[in-house]
Amino acid sequence: MVHLLHIDSSPRGARSHSRRLSREFVEAWKQSHPTGSVSYRDLGHNPPPHVDEAWIAAAFTSPEQRTSQMWEAIEISDRLVDEFLTADVYVIGIPMYNFTVPSTLKAYIDQIVRVGRTWLFEPEDAEMPYKTLVHNKKMFVITARGDGGYGSGVSKA
Ligand SMILES: Cc1cc2nc3c(=O)[nH]c(=O)nc-3n(C[C@H](O)[C@H](O)[C@H](O)COP(=O)(O)O)c2cc1C
Repeated sequence: MVHLLHIDSSPRGARSHSRRLSREFVEAWKQSHPTGSVSYRDLGHNPPPHVDEAWIAAAFTSPEQRTSQMWEAIEISDRLVDEFLTADVYVIGIPMYNFTVPSTLKAYIDQIVRVGRTWLFEPEDAEMPYKTLVHNKKMFVITARGDGGYGSGVSKA
């Protein structure tokens, strides 16, 4: 059974274009994958924490050597990674904020890009020491940007 993880990152609710579009995508996906399943993560309304010093110390300590405090520091990250790896397909609604993604999405990326869980470091391979552990997934990114005044030749000031 194919599993879709639907992620939104706009802090807006009903007014959000990226939320509307990602919702429409999911509805169409369900029609074409009647046996598929969907889970939902709302980064815009429930932002994940930023990584901090305790997180970094825990993530870069091998599992056998982690203390209980260390496990606690990466508990949210572990849950987000589990959820991420369970999916086969992703759709992410993303507003453009200051020419990049909202910081909530960056915080999420920092939580799920985890050595030993989603990637490996193999220094003996000088050509490509970084190895992904995420294979055969498909990701659809839906972005919304602009507003009145962003048109060609129009000044926002
Ligand atoms: C803090 C902030 C920064 C933004 N920065 C940009 C930008 O750099 N470029 C752009 O084209 N639109 C920018 N926008 C406009 C949003 O991308 C646009 O309103 C989009 O529809 C927001 O997504 P949403 O409708 O899903 O909330 C910005 C909006 C906000 C609130």
